[in-house]
Amino acid sequence: MKSVPSKGAPLRDEIDKFKVGLTTTQAPFIEEQQAKGNLYTFQPYDLYSEENHEAWRKLFARMEPRWKRYANEHFQAGIDALCLDPNRVPKLEEVNEFLNPLTGFSAKPVSGYIPAFLFFDCLRNREFPTTITIRSSDKLDYLPEPDIFHDIAGHVPMHTDRAFADTLVKFGDCAHTAAEVVRSIKDHDEQIRRLTSIIKAMARFFWFTVEFGLMNDSRGQGLKAYGSGLLSSFGELAHSLESPTVQRFPIQLEWVINQGFEIDHYQPLLFSVDSFDHLFSLVDELEKWMLDGRLNNVAPGEPGVSQEDLDSFLG
Ligand SMILES: [Fe+2]
Repeated sequence: MKSVPSKGAPLRDEIDKFKVGLTTTQAPFIEEQQAKGNLYTFQPYDLYSEENHEAWRKLFARMEPRWKRYANEHFQAGIDALCLDPNRVPKLEEVNEFLNPLTGFSAKPVSGYIPAFLFFDCLRNREFPTTITIRSSDKLDYLPEPDIFHDIAGHVPMHTDRAFADTLVKFGDCAHTAAEVVRSIKDHDEQIRRLTSIIKAMARFFWFTVEFGLMNDSRGQGLKAYGSGLLSSFGELAHSLESPTVQRFPIQLEWVINQGFEIDHYQPLLFSVDSFDHLFSLVDELEKWMLDGRLNNVAPGEPGVSQEDLDSFLG
């Protein structure tokens, strides 16, 4: 909140404030939106600095050859369909003009973290919560926060595929089912315990599929990446498919929902699906398991579930 100007601050301060652009963790615009409690926001495109565009250009240029080699075919088709400019941070409105007619999805600008239920509910409405800040151009590799490169270049190309888009909507259905299931529990402690387990299961499943999933290539070219965490990481994309230190297994629902993960290093364990129809069927199964009570006692461990996430399901 430190950047929110006092009333009557000179106009020059207002202008200088925005010269820093929309850089991850350094954007006064985002701090203001968060201070106002605006989870959903807009993309003030003129605030991007030349350095922000330079970061996008560098990220895009170094990923292109790796996408051609390691990305699944649906991603490649999506990149082409979205007509992303390799040299400038994308305007979400323009991205949506290409995306929306294909699957009904659109990128929805957000000011930061969206509590779990609200995130999944956006997916159900075919809206993808999208970060508008971009990492610094001199720190292109790991950052713990998502940025617009991760969200638009990593996630959104897959949203042009109908089966994948329907899978995201199914995740949203799952969240609604979870909310209904736990709201019927009278004992508060038991309600929180079960909800924590269900959210953990959903978060793990999302992580090992939408964020870090691998897929058998339909053209017989072996495993390819479809997870956005891989497709937006210059180092990890190649590592995930080339390194002998990575374990790669066909996905098993019972394994994934009980498998913890850590976010601050390359993933040592990845799971593959056969197709997005296969992925859809797994989310459908996840929902059935939820209704059968099979997500009520998953293995403890990462990820943690915040009070904010719990409240979002109970609110
Ligand atoms: Fe992501």
